[in-house]
Amino acid sequence: MKNLSKYILLILFIFSCSNKYEGVLADNGMVVSARQEASKIGVDILKKGGNAFDAMLATELALAVSYPSAGNIGGGGFMVYRKSDGSTGALDYRERAPINSTSDMYLDENMEVIEGLSMIGGLSVGVPGTIAGIFEAHERYGTLTINELISPVIELAKKGVIVTEKQKNRIEENRKYFKLVNKSKILFDNDFNTNDTIKFPNLASTLERIMEYGRDEFYKGETAKKLVEFIQNNGGIITLNDLESYKPVWRDPIIFNYDGLKIISMSPPSSGGVCINQIMKMIEPFDLKTFGHNSSNYIKLLVEAERRSFADRSHYLGDPDFIQVPVNKLTSESYLNIRMNDFSFEKPTDSNYIGYGNIEINESDETTHYSIVDQFGNAIAVTTTLNGTFGSKLYSNELGFFLNNEMDDFSSKPGYPNMYGLIGGEANKIEPQKRMLSSMTPTIVEKNGELFMTLGTPGGSTIITSVVQTILNVHEFNMTMQEAVNSARFHHQWKPDSIRIESELFDEKIKNNLIKSGYRLNDKVSIGRVDGILVKKDKKLEGGADKRGDDTAIGF
Ligand code: DON
Repeated sequence: MKNLSKYILLILFIFSCSNKYEGVLADNGMVVSARQEASKIGVDILKKGGNAFDAMLATELALAVSYPSAGNIGGGGFMVYRKSDGSTGALDYRERAPINSTSDMYLDENMEVIEGLSMIGGLSVGVPGTIAGIFEAHERYGTLTINELISPVIELAKKGVIVTEKQKNRIEENRKYFKLVNKSKILFDNDFNTNDTIKFPNLASTLERIMEYGRDEFYKGETAKKLVEFIQNNGGIITLNDLESYKPVWRDPIIFNYDGLKIISMSPPSSGGVCINQIMKMIEPFDLKTFGHNSSNYIKLLVEAERRSFADRSHYLGDPDFIQVPVNKLTSESYLNIRMNDFSFEKPTDSNYIGYGNIEINESDETTHYSIVDQFGNAIAVTTTLNGTFGSKLYSNELGFFLNNEMDDFSSKPGYPNMYGLIGGEANKIEPQKRMLSSMTPTIVEKNGELFMTLGTPGGSTIITSVVQTILNVHEFNMTMQEAVNSARFHHQWKPDSIRIESELFDEKIKNNLIKSGYRLNDKVSIGRVDGILVKKDKKLEGGADKRGDDTAIGF
């Protein structure tokens, strides 16, 4: 399987090198998401006259049905929008720490981290924000009725979803955890083969109740009560009070200019916007085109900017409702110029010189991003997650969905890495009702005052660097959206001090040059799954759907 995905990536790469080729094109509107079923439901809503915010509600729920390893109603996310009149904004529906949580809840009596406690099972679950988020976006900007939006999703849950090969493998790889975490047999304990159909009658019933009683059904109604009982029976601490008091927050996005582009991205509690702002401003003074795409100098420059930005992330970033995040200072040009003073193409900067400790990474690959542009010219970028693949692995058979393990995005103990190897400190410590720091980077790009691109990706910490590289691929290296998405990626996050690299897709000479210069390479089969939409010069929409997954662009 690993070899097969390597092979597919290689073919895509060779194809993208030899031929300029485009993804799906459309004149009016488009949805790009991790599953064909979800993109189709979203586009059908647009065709019916709905706008991007209507399609968001339907697409998000359709992903909860068709892509349950990351699509969710038991998790949370962020949405960045740009309306046709040019106004922009962001919605934070990130999970929060339960009221009864404490900063040392994952530590033993010797103040050592209890391995796994923040990653699987009831105690790893943050208070879900997804239903509140999609209803909030719909209430403010949607136009169709909730019934019109949820009915097709209920139909999909009842009719069932075809299992893809990637999905089958994902379920198989996680089955041991499902058994470990859940007291009784769950739907996903069944053996599924590629092309089997999985039906979700219990999820359909939950969605029917939400359709009838609205957002409150999830936070105060029968679903809320069942959910709290279920989580508590499985070692969690979420109460009805947690659900009742959950609120999404409209936030000002991070907005900055890069070489004539205007970039609009997610603000804290995501680190995404701040980090891409820092990285892109640190590299802006250099002429990337003369380096060449994915050349060793290009990689060195980006890696060094990334290293510096992730070191700042670890120290300064967290939930702005709890701590002062010095966004202006961190993104000011004078500060970033000073930050790059010691950069050299000759040798890497030592991460120990900027920060601390060595780390092992236990990676996971699930979160999901979808991009929508509607026929009215509104654009949204949405990244939504359960955190790890199938989140906490805790699945309510009765309600039909998985619960997140987002608590692991907090820093369990200063200096201790989370599942993405990210280190945090005071700023991201656990506090009741606080939101955990995220890397999710839903982003919209404007060029000459007009919509240019909407994009984002899963991939934990690699989200940030994949978004930067995809924008640069289009803007600096003149790629189509699909080429930019296919293109080989690399990533550095300060700690551990190595470059994660889609090794098969890079020239040996370039890798050797990096190694000779003193960089350590950490080979990866794939990084991220970027889904984006580009507005071409002729105003056609071009979808870039990442073939590293089952992602699909559908337009009309
Ligand atoms: O919010 C975050 O940064 C993480 N919970 C995202 C997790 C993720 O992207 C996993 N998938 N690839």
